[in-house]
Amino acid sequence: LKLAVLISGGGSNLKALLDAAADPAYPARVVAVGSDTDAAGLAHAEAAGVPTFIVRPRDYATREEWGQALAAAIREHGVSGVSAPGPASGPGSASGAGSASGPTSDPDPVRDAAREPGLVVSAGLMRILPAGFVRAFSPNLINTHPALLPLFPGAHAVRDALVAGATETGVTVHVIDEGVDTGPALRRAAVQVRPGETEEELHERIKQLERPLLVETVREIAAGELDLRIAASGAVDETD
Ligand code: GRF
Repeated sequence: LKLAVLISGGGSNLKALLDAAADPAYPARVVAVGSDTDAAGLAHAEAAGVPTFIVRPRDYATREEWGQALAAAIREHGVSGVSAPGPASGPGSASGAGSASGPTSDPDPVRDAAREPGLVVSAGLMRILPAGFVRAFSPNLINTHPALLPLFPGAHAVRDALVAGATETGVTVHVIDEGVDTGPALRRAAVQVRPGETEEELHERIKQLERPLLVETVREIAAGELDLRIAASGAVDETD
């Protein structure tokens, strides 16, 4: 499975994906890393020889136009967001022999790769993706969020959990929909809040769970164990 990873910050979740994908047995690889800014984490991609791109919102008149430019940059790296074509369209569809559309059903790996929609992973992208972008890649578009959604959505999830006096918080990997951190949850992991803990301390402990949870969730998607079309319809069987 081809991954386009979007970041805004230090990119430790990206680094975890890059490290996992360095193992040939891992069923996904990072083909591009994009950002809305000069994110420090882009260095992880460069060190791994993965192409990077920056698409800055200030260079576009509207958020939707920014989203279109971001989508174009992602597609340039072979992540189309478009699922395997049905009978009507797409290269190679004529010889699909009516088989199921799963990646293992096609005997031609080159054609298979061209049809693969790939997956966009928002791993610390601190921007809301515009609706047009979400529609273009849905359901092959996931996010990791440092709280147990639907609790504490938004950009300050760890701080909000502390301010609310939560005794437990955590991380949620979810499908992105057009809302802010509202899409169907795929996997969660919980962390107990320690008395007197700072936002930075708690966030770091959350991230220690978040990195392996993201790596494992992407592995399950790539291995076909987790179907995003079903998840996006709200019917996923969520297990910790
Ligand atoms: C993660 O906790 C992510 O969920 C949040 O920002 C953090 C990014 O961390 N939105 P990193 O850049 O992957 O280290």
